[in-house]
Amino acid sequence: MDRIIIFDTTLRDGEQAPGFSMNVEEKLKLARQLERLQVDVIEAGFPIASEGDFEAVKKIAAEIRSVKIAGLARAVPADIDRCWQALEGATHPRIHTFLATSDIHLKYKLNRTRGEALDIAVKAVERARKLCDEVEFSAEDAGRTEINYLCTIFDAVIEAGATIVNVPDTVGYQTPAEYGQLIRTLRERLKNADRVTISTHCHDDLGLAVANSLAAIENGARQVECAINGIGERAGNAALEEIVMALDTRKRYYNVTTGVKTQELYRSSQLLCQLTGKQVQVNKAIVGENAFAHEAGIHQDGMLKNAVTYEIMSPDHVGVPRSMIVLGKHSGRHALEARYRELGYTLTREQLENAYVKFLEVADRKKRVEDQDLISIHESAHRLAAG
Ligand code: KIV
Ligand code: ZN
Repeated sequence: MDRIIIFDTTLRDGEQAPGFSMNVEEKLKLARQLERLQVDVIEAGFPIASEGDFEAVKKIAAEIRSVKIAGLARAVPADIDRCWQALEGATHPRIHTFLATSDIHLKYKLNRTRGEALDIAVKAVERARKLCDEVEFSAEDAGRTEINYLCTIFDAVIEAGATIVNVPDTVGYQTPAEYGQLIRTLRERLKNADRVTISTHCHDDLGLAVANSLAAIENGARQVECAINGIGERAGNAALEEIVMALDTRKRYYNVTTGVKTQELYRSSQLLCQLTGKQVQVNKAIVGENAFAHEAGIHQDGMLKNAVTYEIMSPDHVGVPRSMIVLGKHSGRHALEARYRELGYTLTREQLENAYVKFLEVADRKKRVEDQDLISIHESAHRLAAG
């Protein structure tokens, strides 16, 4: 079975969406959780965009050792050099450089000809490759780029040293059949398609980001760019948890695997909600409050007889606690400890005692203490202990 590379862009495309910005410390917390989730690549930010972004990428590159760290750069020398300054401490760095290639973007945004853009892209990749062994090139708005030109530009950047070519459906315009066919065409027509990884990056403007990403995988894409809770520009990116669980639940259909530790999905989602203050909708697939709730009598009856009647995956498998215990100021240490266990944390007696004190403080302020409050309590204590 082929392995799909899970490229997480929560800290870059996700974080650049209105209302989702995070400070350096918050980004580090999420990056640590993404490492526990065992994604393959963390796109940690866009270093030239701000001092804060630069700092965050640098710190994440220095601390997170078991995951590849990517930084974004426009196809201009200053961006690429700044990106490398932030990344060079990483164990596995990747420069991700991009340039728009559709006629619409070339004409209205960049005021460049196709020939000029080709030259800029090649020079950017050559420069990046002198600094870093792994270079990804994204043809922004690839979904609306004329296919012959897209092949020309990808052939040229591969020749210049790109190791991954990314095919963003930047505006979420494609349908699954079209996008799948686009990936297939690229695989068939690129001169050195076997030397590179073809990557998908889909936006959700028509609610098709996950379906498009899966169609791309069926047609040979081997990296998928996605974000926790599907956050990202406008309607967002493809939701990581949905892609991972579609591939896992329908393994025999897709015939591919990922390295993601699925039991960490819910905790990752909750941590992101807690850090950004933005909740997912209750009916959100995999991680929403109702994703494993059964209300109708007929469904409850089926569930009591055998969960397989109405559940295609088990909540444990994605780290969702089954317990119906509601935690509030009257709850005791046992209930708290049990909930932490369900969330995947084993607390020592001392950690439980400290968490309980904090828990009561939160419970005094709120009627009901949510999982994300407990995760936050534990994460803060962990950070204090780590110094
Ligand atoms: O949507 C997009 O085109 C992007 C690129 C920078 C990869 O986010
Ligand atoms: Zn994007």
